[in-house]
Amino acid sequence: MKKTIIAANWKMNMGLLEAGSLAESFESFAAQAQPKSEVVVCGTFIQLPQLAQICRDVTFGAQDVYFEDNGAFTGEISSEMLLDVGARYVLTGHSERRHVLGETDEIVNKKTFKAVSENLNVIFCVGETEAEREAGKTNQVLKRQVEKGLEGLFSSHLERIVVAYEPVWAIGTGKNASRNDAEDAITKIKEVMAEMFSEEEVANVSFLYGGSVKPENVTDFSNSPVIDGVLVGGASLALETFAPLVEAFEKRDI
Ligand code: PGA
Repeated sequence: MKKTIIAANWKMNMGLLEAGSLAESFESFAAQAQPKSEVVVCGTFIQLPQLAQICRDVTFGAQDVYFEDNGAFTGEISSEMLLDVGARYVLTGHSERRHVLGETDEIVNKKTFKAVSENLNVIFCVGETEAEREAGKTNQVLKRQVEKGLEGLFSSHLERIVVAYEPVWAIGTGKNASRNDAEDAITKIKEVMAEMFSEEEVANVSFLYGGSVKPENVTDFSNSPVIDGVLVGGASLALETFAPLVEAFEKRDI
């Protein structure tokens, strides 16, 4: 079912001490505020056991997963291992994995398929680079990433899919997409998904915006009826910048 999600992507940041105390501050905030939105924290693999101890009103997840069950895949982590530690979410297709770590649409697809098949919720990320936007290829890129990334998924898998539109040029740059750009991209993504599944099924999927979301610009997104939440990197590394994002979505009157 569609819900509002405010997701933190902590990326490769913080040792256990710092991450533990930030997780505790997120948890006390969520326990007290009882937001309608789901607050999700995606930590590094080694932070997960600690998040499992701390998180009650916050849901936690991982930033990556491998698509095999087990075996000779040095350094990788399986869906089952994530479930074992209590993680409920995982990111797939994040632009840093695509563009820094070389993940192809095929790899993103295998990871997404495996994770949803194992009952993990997946925040599936798509987005164009600056050069692709300037060349007028945004819609084409989104169509390809969605068609390839979600290929082979069954309708029953859709309830565990959340889609995040994250233009690469807006991630970690301080330069956010405009509300209109985000709405146009999400509308395009929905169109492509409606052809793969059905309009009714896609209507139940949550669509997030990500890319330099911060307290100063969050209302651009929280006031949009098309945007069901945000995926946040930099501003999720302190409660002072993360809590206002949750609060903004509480105040939306849509
Ligand atoms: P940012 O990162 O908020 O720091 O731009 C967003 C993301 O990578 O998910």
